[in-house]
Amino acid sequence: MGARFIGWGTAVPERVVTNDELSLTLDTSDAWITERTGIRERRIGGTAKSLGVLAARDALNDAGVGPEDIDFLILATTTPDRITPSTATLIAHELGLQCPAMDLNAACSGFMYAVRTAYGLLETGNKRVLVIGAENLSRWVDWTDRNMAVLLADGAGATVLEYDPTENDLLAFVLGAEGADADLLTCEHEGYFQMDGKEVFRRAVRVVVDSAQKALDMAGITSDDLSLIIPHQANIRIIQAACQRLNVEMERAVVVLDRYGNTSSASIPLAFADARQNDRVQKGDYALLTGFGAGMTWASAVVRWSR
Ligand code: UT7
Repeated sequence: MGARFIGWGTAVPERVVTNDELSLTLDTSDAWITERTGIRERRIGGTAKSLGVLAARDALNDAGVGPEDIDFLILATTTPDRITPSTATLIAHELGLQCPAMDLNAACSGFMYAVRTAYGLLETGNKRVLVIGAENLSRWVDWTDRNMAVLLADGAGATVLEYDPTENDLLAFVLGAEGADADLLTCEHEGYFQMDGKEVFRRAVRVVVDSAQKALDMAGITSDDLSLIIPHQANIRIIQAACQRLNVEMERAVVVLDRYGNTSSASIPLAFADARQNDRVQKGDYALLTGFGAGMTWASAVVRWSR
């Protein structure tokens, strides 16, 4: 059994919000945000649906397939437009898809959870699955709370996964969830995101390293074999700490959080797109895709690009 990534797409709102702009209304500074997080600016605007549609169209074009070729849609999102119906059904309608569509919430691990679920669907008879990660986190930010306002942002990324009996891009997955840590990062109905940043930071490094190491073992490779690490984009210091523990130089990590901030489910496909645009994705190369987030949830996958 094989599954290949056959197309990718992204969408970000036009509106750029710099650290300096945030410093006008919050007790913060460009120096603090850059030093402690690596974020320099972020994009704000749109909805999970509007951004998701744009990223999906981009991915369908890139894959060279039409709406009729998709037999399942999974939207990873923490910020659906409504509680019900699912935002996936709204996106499917807008795109003209005639297939099942559902939302999946695994916070910042959402995109990798959706890819894992898509793999299972391809294994059991589906031919092509459209996976989208789309977020409108800014709607759930208290813009007077500097703790969250400097971190979270909006954006979307998408991929098309296709069943292939001969080639396989997805070599290993390690996913997990620990609900005992649920209160470390939450957003209540009609509320705002709240986080114990220090504790999330500590646990994030731990689960990324642990799940990544297990996924590498399952794939039968070591971190030396990796051309790229495509991590969830929460904080440059988390990426640095994880890379150091995995013995991977930062040159092999893809970083886009300086431009996009933390876009939760959208951050891994946004990072992938950046790597491809910069010619960092070559056929036959191994990459580690790894995410973590509220729940806590985590997900690492070892990928080998077949195209
Ligand atoms: O997507 C998955 C979930 N998210 C994450 O993975 C985020 C994980 N956590 C983090 O990235 C970091 O913990 C933060 C960026 C949230 C915070 O960085 P930190 O280095 O852990 O800072 P801190 O909370 O220890 O705060 C250090 C100081 C404090 O001042 P004092 O007590 O030293 O005087 C804070 O009050 O920085 C202050 N501070 C700020 N100053 C300016 C906290 N937030 C800000 C801010 N601007 N935005």
